[in-house]
Amino acid sequence: MMDSIIQLSPIIAHRGARSLAPENTLAAMQKAKALGAEWVEFDVMLTVDGEAIVIHDTRLDRTTNGVGEVGETTYKEILKLDAGSWFSSEYKKEKIPGFSEMLKCLIDLELIPNVEIKPYPGQDNKTALVVMETIHKLWPKTAPKPLISSFSIESLRVARSLDPHVPIGIVCTEINFDWKKLAEELNAISVHVCEKNLNADLIHAIKSTGRYVLSYTINNLASGKKLFSEGVDAIFTDDLPTFSEYL
Ligand code: G3P
Ligand code: MG
Repeated sequence: MMDSIIQLSPIIAHRGARSLAPENTLAAMQKAKALGAEWVEFDVMLTVDGEAIVIHDTRLDRTTNGVGEVGETTYKEILKLDAGSWFSSEYKKEKIPGFSEMLKCLIDLELIPNVEIKPYPGQDNKTALVVMETIHKLWPKTAPKPLISSFSIESLRVARSLDPHVPIGIVCTEINFDWKKLAEELNAISVHVCEKNLNADLIHAIKSTGRYVLSYTINNLASGKKLFSEGVDAIFTDDLPTFSEYL
C-alpha cells in the first residue's frame, strides 16, 4: 500500500497564509513561506474554457472585484480581475493565479503543495485531468510530490487512474461512508476530516491502517494541540502565527 511517500509537516497553510494575505493568491504563498510554512493548500477549479485556476468559491464575488460563476467565465476575463483589494489595498495587484503559475511559484519558493481539486459542478473528471496533466508537465521529479486531495471521489478516481504513484488524500466533512473501502480503492495516503467531526477513536482507526489523518480548519492553538495529542498528523490553518511553535 501507498508507495508514494510524503514528508508531512504538522502545519499546512490553508489557502496560503489566509489570515494575512488574500486567500489562494501568490502573495498568500509568499507570506506562508516567510512565516516558515513548508506545506500550503489551495483549491483548483476550471474556467468555462477549461483553464485551471486557483480559487475556492464557485462564484467570483467574495474574493475578487468580479461577479458571476467561475464555470461561466473565460480565462481571459479571469485574468482582468483584482483578487486582492477585497482583503486590503496593499494587495490590489494580486490576480487569480493560473494553476501552472501557482506551481511555478511554489517550485521557486520550495513549498510543498496540497492541491485540492475543487471541481465546478459537472467538471469532476476534466478538472482532475487538467490538474494531473499540469503536474506531470511542470512538477520536478526530484521535488517532494504534491498531495492531491478532493471532496470529489470522481476526481480522485481520475487522478489515481492517471498516476499510480501520486499521493492521494480523501477530503470529507464527516466520515459517513466506508472510508476504509474507498481508501483502499484509491490507495489513499491520508484522510482529511473537518475538526468538529473527528474523535480519538476515528483517528486511531484511520491511523491503524497506516494512513495519515489531517484536519481542517484549525485556528485555535488549544484545539490544534488536542488534535495532535489524539494522533492527528497535520492541521490546515488560516492563521500561521498562532501555530508558530510548530513551524
Ligand atoms: O482541504 C482542506 C480544506 O481546504 C477543505 O475545505 O472548503 O476550505 O476547501 P475548503
Ligand atoms: Mg481547500
